[in-house]
Amino acid sequence: MSTTRDGTVGFENGKVMCVGLACVDFVNVVDSFPQEDSDKRGERYYWQRGGNATNNCTVLTKLSTPCDFMGVLGTKGAEASWIAEDFEKCGVSTVHCVRKNVQCSSATVILSIDSGTRTIIFYPRDQPQLTYEEFNKEFKGDFSSYSWIHFELTSNVPDVCNMMNAVLTCELREKPEFDCEELQEDSHSEREKVDTVLTMQASQRPIVSLEIEKPEIEDAEKSMDKADVVFISKDFAKSRGCTDAVEAVKKFQPICRLWATVICAWGECGAAASYLENPESLCVVTSPALANISVVDSLGAGDSFVAGVIHTLVRRQFIPGASLGQGGVVTERHKQVVEEAIVFGCKVAGLKCTMFGYDGIT
Ligand code: ADP
Ligand code: FRU
Repeated sequence: MSTTRDGTVGFENGKVMCVGLACVDFVNVVDSFPQEDSDKRGERYYWQRGGNATNNCTVLTKLSTPCDFMGVLGTKGAEASWIAEDFEKCGVSTVHCVRKNVQCSSATVILSIDSGTRTIIFYPRDQPQLTYEEFNKEFKGDFSSYSWIHFELTSNVPDVCNMMNAVLTCELREKPEFDCEELQEDSHSEREKVDTVLTMQASQRPIVSLEIEKPEIEDAEKSMDKADVVFISKDFAKSRGCTDAVEAVKKFQPICRLWATVICAWGECGAAASYLENPESLCVVTSPALANISVVDSLGAGDSFVAGVIHTLVRRQFIPGASLGQGGVVTERHKQVVEEAIVFGCKVAGLKCTMFGYDGIT
């Protein structure tokens, strides 16, 4: 692999790993949302593999980005073995998963045709969640087969933070072509020093991204400074007082790593992304949502958006803050790639909304 100072890097395989939860989604499609305590006839009923990270894997694979899933896979019950089979059918490897004799989680979903909403009742059952110890035991600090590792923030925040830290501080593929000591001398603040060194090493390790979706996760903010790319969901941003995607990226950028890219999708309003051009200046780019579509299934729209963005960033060999060595200024290419990624993410997510499930995404 070769690296240049303008951020171009020769990734070996462009392979992604998504770390998070797996569940089965039982989907009921209704013409309009049922009244409480009513007895209503549905329009369709099916089940599919679910969970943010597994949906990311499904869409990445459909976009031809090779992808592995890592998480706990239950082995108890018919649904558990169905999930494992479905991963295989989709071409997503589960080789690194931890198998446990537990039942998998499930979700009951109501898709309402007239409003386009998806209402999810998630039931964690035996609560299978990956721990840092299990993650560490599996990889022992060697993440060299991945270009990108994406984490879904689950309720065990300290474990997810430790896993991300393990990737950030893993053994580098090659010695970076810059002098850490020199950079540290040049930098202004302590935070800037640490963040700049971690970012300059990003070309020699997998890029780390994090999706924060669930508003109820306590201490979610503590995980934000562990990733190169941070995805904030509309629901999370709303719960923290934001009213649109631009406001959200601006609000959370200061608590992310200095050179992180922060991205927020906002339903039919599209998406926004932000990053620092230099320590004093923030750049925000936006994308509209796919226009004039007829929404039939918005379940997993956010997950499809994240997959579309990661797919683009991997293809374009994106490295956050790639040209920091050149006077601490991020290049124009950086802006183009980030914009291209959120535009593509919105296209994939919009397309997904027009069909049931994910099979029609190619
Ligand atoms: P989720 O609620 O699944 O986290 P969002 O509702 O924020 O996700 O939607 C994610 C992306 O899906 C949006 O950025 C947009 O691109 C697309 N999307 C969602 N709803 C619509 C819609 N009604 N029209 C067009 N695109 C949509
Ligand atoms: C969609 C989804 C579903 C799952 C739920 C978990 O984003 O991942 O597949 O049931 O969210 O919260």
